[in-house]
Amino acid sequence: MRRCVATCGAVPRPIRISCGRLVPGFLATVHGEPPVKLCYSTASQSIVHRDECKVATPLTTALPFSKIPGPKGAPLIGSLVDALRNGVLGKTHEFFQLRHRQYGPIYKERIGGYTCVGLNDPLDAERLFRVEGRYPRRVDMVAWEMHRRHSNREAGILVLNGPEWHRNRTIVNKPMLRSHSVAHYTPMVNGVCRDLVDQWRHHRIGTTVADIRQDLFNWSIECVGCILFDCRLGCLEMTRRDDIQQLIQSVHVLLSATERLFVMPPALAKLLNVKPWRDMVAAWDYIFAIAEQQVNQRLEVMRQEQERGITPSGFLATLYCSPKIRTDEIYGNVAELLAAAVETTSNTIHWALFLLAKYPESQGKLWKEISAVISPEEEVTHDTLEKLPYLKAVIKETLRLYPVGIANTRMPSQDIVIRGFSIPAGIASSKRSNV
Ligand code: HEM
Repeated sequence: MRRCVATCGAVPRPIRISCGRLVPGFLATVHGEPPVKLCYSTASQSIVHRDECKVATPLTTALPFSKIPGPKGAPLIGSLVDALRNGVLGKTHEFFQLRHRQYGPIYKERIGGYTCVGLNDPLDAERLFRVEGRYPRRVDMVAWEMHRRHSNREAGILVLNGPEWHRNRTIVNKPMLRSHSVAHYTPMVNGVCRDLVDQWRHHRIGTTVADIRQDLFNWSIECVGCILFDCRLGCLEMTRRDDIQQLIQSVHVLLSATERLFVMPPALAKLLNVKPWRDMVAAWDYIFAIAEQQVNQRLEVMRQEQERGITPSGFLATLYCSPKIRTDEIYGNVAELLAAAVETTSNTIHWALFLLAKYPESQGKLWKEISAVISPEEEVTHDTLEKLPYLKAVIKETLRLYPVGIANTRMPSQDIVIRGFSIPAGIASSKRSNV
């Protein structure tokens, strides 16, 4: 299964689909949202609504792809103009909601040369994910692939597909997802969290912290630096090194430039050398430069440790000791992990703090749970985290209400039928994250 490498295999799923069980979200209940009833029919191997209990349409009798509703659009550009007018850039989540209000639970849209089917029902999404096979494929990050070729660098698991993705992913899973690996970097991450809280204590104005968003962004890069490089980058320092300041800036720029490149063919963007293309290339080049510099420094330390008979440990040590991955592939994976880690975690924590402030009863309950497990002078360990189910629920509920990834996409390797429509292999389908 293709899943996030850092969130326990958890795609931020809104509602766990289980055999007829009702799984309402705890904060959603506070919101007054109605819970959803779902069931999975194992007998027919098809996903069914409890109320409808309809068996899946076979491919032979399905309606053709052309019958899927959606905006007509003009030749070449498709519905680009309408999409831009309705916020596809900047307010993409609202744009997706609008399309579903206009066309129902399934629609198709062509923006530029790129066609996508939008799904709004978790059961349809489940069907999509069930056919993903051994090498699941997201919508290709064409602009990023072009950057790797253009700069003669190796791609990592965020960009790779097929057997190469699988080989890299198998190696990266080991230091990222195993619980004893978490134990290795917990003390350093604890230090980063302490520094952030101290910073907030000392620099708040009254009860207000001036720029919590940027602070959390910096905190996030610092944490991932600890995990990947086993060292502090200094993102939380009041006077940051120029290279670290530029790294922070590059991660910001990368994401906004990439969003813009989604609405124009990347080959044309490269040919015309438009600003989003130049920004994206410069941002990736910088992230790679820092990744390469940090990896080289750490590899040198590990070589020296080995000479002294010390077995190196940590994320890079696992990769370094694996004969199945080359150094340029390590650079690619580390650069991509660095880019993927930051906005995801910082925005999620931002929303979690917002929700805890909005629902003081949940905040009180969480405080009580934490106080019962850890005393103020105690360090958080992997074991203590296991004893905090309410904390885990708060994070999961935050991801359900405010998912950082707006949609999760797949390009299935075989034709599928969803809602009675045939969708050819290779066509991208995306599920809104908060359905
Ligand atoms: C709240 C935090 C996070 C959320 C909600 C999140 C969410 C996601 C989602 C939805 C995907 C797509 C999975 C799929 O295609 O099925 C993904 C992929 C990925 N994430 Fe995360 N992520 C988070 C944190 C991180 C962090 C901290 C890192 C790096 C340290 C990271 C690295 C990646 C990578 C490398 C992939 C591509 C994995 C692959 O295709 O094999 N993510 N993430």
